[in-house]
Amino acid sequence: MSDRPRRLRRTAALRDLCAEVRIAPASLIQPHFVVADDRADRPIVALPGISRMGIEPLLRRVETDLELGIRSVLLFGVTDHKDPEGRTGEDANGPAQRAVAALKRRFGDDLTVMADVCLCTYTDHGHCGLLHEGQVANDPSLPRLAAQAVSLAEAGADVIAPSDMMDGRVAAIRKALDGRGFVDRAIMSYAAKYASAFYGPFREAADSAPKNAGPKDRKSYQMDYRNGREAVREALLDQAEGADILMVKPALAYLDVIAAVRQAVDRPVAAYLVSGEYAAIKLLAREGLAAEADLVREHFTAVRRAGADALITYHARAALEQRWL
Ligand code: PBG
Repeated sequence: MSDRPRRLRRTAALRDLCAEVRIAPASLIQPHFVVADDRADRPIVALPGISRMGIEPLLRRVETDLELGIRSVLLFGVTDHKDPEGRTGEDANGPAQRAVAALKRRFGDDLTVMADVCLCTYTDHGHCGLLHEGQVANDPSLPRLAAQAVSLAEAGADVIAPSDMMDGRVAAIRKALDGRGFVDRAIMSYAAKYASAFYGPFREAADSAPKNAGPKDRKSYQMDYRNGREAVREALLDQAEGADILMVKPALAYLDVIAAVRQAVDRPVAAYLVSGEYAAIKLLAREGLAAEADLVREHFTAVRRAGADALITYHARAALEQRWL
């Protein structure tokens, strides 16, 4: 036996030397749920350790996170002011716009501020696009998404992250941004976003579950998880429409999709380790079935190994604070 793979597993130093994958703090993106009440800091029961924050606690939190090395955040506005068209989403005084502006004023280019673009937290029916005759209408939703993107860019967002899954929205947003002079703002598209059961805790956090009217789920616009090849088609479409970063979501059950998208595109690939993945790890740890540090390290590593450059994860802060990586 001349080839013995165990030779390079003998010591921790050798294992570290030979590791194919490393996780730098700069590759982590911390999501935040932001609300209008400046002082609010309301824990989210479904996501232990994460709160809905107003500007004041948000600024304090991001400041300490920056010291830990987290240089990117992804913001979700959360509001009670809902209507059929999600107009709060494009309001210059909306919670997301105010948070973006406050963060950029305070931290400037030290912090990359990414802003989610979608209608679901702002519409009274909870869908990601407009409803027309009981269905989620694609093309009429595009101007609303583009207007939301422009207002977030005006507030100072570095990266616009459309998560709605309407066809053609990347092109519509790119055109609107360019038309207003924001040629330098990037788009990170949720390119392959599946209709997943792993978003459950998020919908509590963002108060964005489908309700009252329209379809009971998002299967007519988010992807069917039986399809892998279609993810490549979605990613190529978004790339052609002008997306700068392509995202796959969720992560752990979609490692094949991350790998396929990585092969197909020449832009950075991001993976979203979603709320249900975070909550599952929290529950395993709380039940004493595994150590949270071990689960997080393995989870992050698998997603990087599959080919993701950037990881959007609710565990970013804990992982760096407690030196899990
Ligand atoms: C909104 C949106 C969702 C997530 C990010 N943006 C939820 C959904 O599509 O219902 C999920 C994030 C998570 O679960 O952590 N379009």
